[in-house]
Amino acid sequence: MAAIEFAKREYTLEEVLSRLNPLVSKWFRSSFKDLTPPQKMAVIPIMEGKNVLVSSPTGTGKTLTAFLSIISELMNLAEKGELEDKVYAVYVSPLRALNNDIYRNLKKPLNEIYALASKEGREVQEIRHQVRTGDTTQNERQKMLRKPPHILITTPESLAIILNAPKFRKALKEVRWVIVDEIHSLVENKRGSHLSLSLERLQEMVENRIIRIGLSATINPLVEVAKFLVGFEKGRPRSCLIIDTNFAKGKDLKVLSPTDDLIHTPSDEVNKRMYELISELIEKHRTTLIFTNTRSGTERVVFHLKSVLGTKMIGDDEIAAHHGSLSRWVRFEVEEKLKNGQLKAIV
Ligand SMILES: Nc1ncnc2c1ncn2[C@@H]1O[C@H](COP(=O)(O)OP(=O)(O)O)[C@@H](O)[C@H]1O
Ligand SMILES: [Mg+2]
Repeated sequence: MAAIEFAKREYTLEEVLSRLNPLVSKWFRSSFKDLTPPQKMAVIPIMEGKNVLVSSPTGTGKTLTAFLSIISELMNLAEKGELEDKVYAVYVSPLRALNNDIYRNLKKPLNEIYALASKEGREVQEIRHQVRTGDTTQNERQKMLRKPPHILITTPESLAIILNAPKFRKALKEVRWVIVDEIHSLVENKRGSHLSLSLERLQEMVENRIIRIGLSATINPLVEVAKFLVGFEKGRPRSCLIIDTNFAKGKDLKVLSPTDDLIHTPSDEVNKRMYELISELIEKHRTTLIFTNTRSGTERVVFHLKSVLGTKMIGDDEIAAHHGSLSRWVRFEVEEKLKNGQLKAIV
């Protein structure tokens, strides 16, 4: 059997939910309609203890893919009161600003799962998680030593530091899972090399084989990324299952031109027809993303589209601009509206 192979099997919602801890599965049902493609393919292999590299487009629920399997296993222990004061999972993300991700994919799910448990009148041991970065205060670090989180959230640099702290190392002796999120932004640089070293040092300290889970946006070649994730033993890469959902969806690419003759048609006319063409496409589809070359171009396109779309019953508030000169807050709001389906088009 090849050490590094591509997954072929996609599991159904029922298959996955029946493997999860019942509370976790109940929570999932009450929160979402279905699993996303990486969740369908990766949750069960992770539960089977395989090293897994997941590559799928942004926004496909990769972070929750990893946490679903881990929360489920920790919940099994928590229900039996068997959670110990040690780190079971280490989540490494290259971004310091990971609080938003962790809130949506870990804190909120855990809160909701515990709310479900208490609604059923059950007392379940708490699964603790904590963020440790360069910004963590001395006081919080001390507390972490006394009561280590079950899930430790950290950056490659802080992980390296923790591995050098004799007291904290004790808490890491039985780590079972390491998640490396946004692995595409680490594979090719020194931060990534540093992390490889830390992962091997961690593995060296731990008696059992650590289950490694890598999460990546679209990137190639995946086999190389997988080798980076799992590392080598006796000169050979450890085994890894690659889950690539990038090609699960067919692509339909077309080049359209507003006119047959771009050279001799007056530019006013070309412009007018271009906006008509874009507005027809927006009208026909659920969401449309439009790209321009400049920020001012973005504003100009939004302005013109609004006037053309106004005649087609598409509201002013169903199209929005998104570029780097807008405040973070405005961009965030536009992204949220897009995700909630409140926008027809974004430029
Ligand atoms: N099965 C699901 N159904 C609907 N939404 C989901 C599902 N799983 C995760 N999400 C949500 O999708 C959003 C994007 O997920 P995220 O983890 O940021 O994606 P990625 O890491 O792939 O970029 C998050 O708000 C997450 O809570
Ligand atoms: Mg993510």
